[in-house]
Amino acid sequence: MQNGSRKLLIIGNWKMHTTGAQATGLAKEIALGVGPRVDIQVVLCPPFTVLEGVSQVLSGSTVQLGAQNLYPGPMGAVTGEVCAEMLKAVYCAYVLVGHSERRVLLREPDELINQKIHTALENRIKPVLCIGEPLEVRDSGNTWPFLQTQLERALDKVPQDLIENVVIAYEPLWAIGSGQPSSPDGAQAVHAQIRQFIDTFSSSAAKLRILYGGSVKPENAQQLLAQPDIDGLLVGGASLKAKSFLDIIG
Ligand code: 13P
Repeated sequence: MQNGSRKLLIIGNWKMHTTGAQATGLAKEIALGVGPRVDIQVVLCPPFTVLEGVSQVLSGSTVQLGAQNLYPGPMGAVTGEVCAEMLKAVYCAYVLVGHSERRVLLREPDELINQKIHTALENRIKPVLCIGEPLEVRDSGNTWPFLQTQLERALDKVPQDLIENVVIAYEPLWAIGSGQPSSPDGAQAVHAQIRQFIDTFSSSAAKLRILYGGSVKPENAQQLLAQPDIDGLLVGGASLKAKSFLDIIG
C-alpha cells in the first residue's frame, strides 16, 4: 500500500499503558500478525520501561520500535530524562515529539519541541511531530493558522533536505480519545494544506509522510487511508489490543 512514493506507516502509541509481560505479549501478537509484510511499515511506541523487552521481541520482525519522547541533549546529569543514545541502544527508529498530551499536561513549549526534532534528526531517529488544534480553535475557524504556527516553530532551522526524515502526525485534540474522529474529507483537507505548506520551503514535500491520529478504529481506518494525503495512522487506544490494531493495519 503506497500513496505515490510514500509507504504507509501505522504507528501504535501505547501511551502510559502496559508493564513487562503485557507489553512483550502484545508486541509478539502484533509482530506475528504483521508477518513478513513489507508493503506497509508498522511501528510500536511503548513506554520507556518496556522498550528493551519489546525491542527483543521485535528483533528479526518487520515491525519497528519507536519511543514516546526524548531529551534534547547528550547523556548526562538530567534526572528523569532519556536521551537519543539510550533510544538507539534499544534500536528505536522513531520518536514521538510534541504529542498534545505532553503539550497540555506538561506544558511542553514549541521551543523544546523544536530542540527535540533537531536532536532526533542528528541521531538519525525519525521524529514524529504531532500537531493539532483544540476544539475552540476549530470552532472559531482558525485551524490552519494555528497548525501553521505549530509547524513553523517545531521545524525552525531544520535543513530542508532533512524534512523527508520527519513524519508529521495531524491529531486534532477534539478527536483524541473522544470516539469522534475527523471525517476522512476533513482530515484530507488539512493534510493537503500541511503538504502545500512544507512545499513552500522544502523540495521533499512529496516524500513527507503525514499521518492522521484521533479515535482511529478498525471501522474508520480504511476510509482514512484511502485519502491521497493521508500516509498512515497514529493509533492510541485501539493499538492496545492486537486484534483491533491488526484490523486497522488491514
Ligand atoms: P486515540 O486513538 O486513543 O484517540 O489516541 C490518539 C493519539 O493520541 C495517538 O497518539
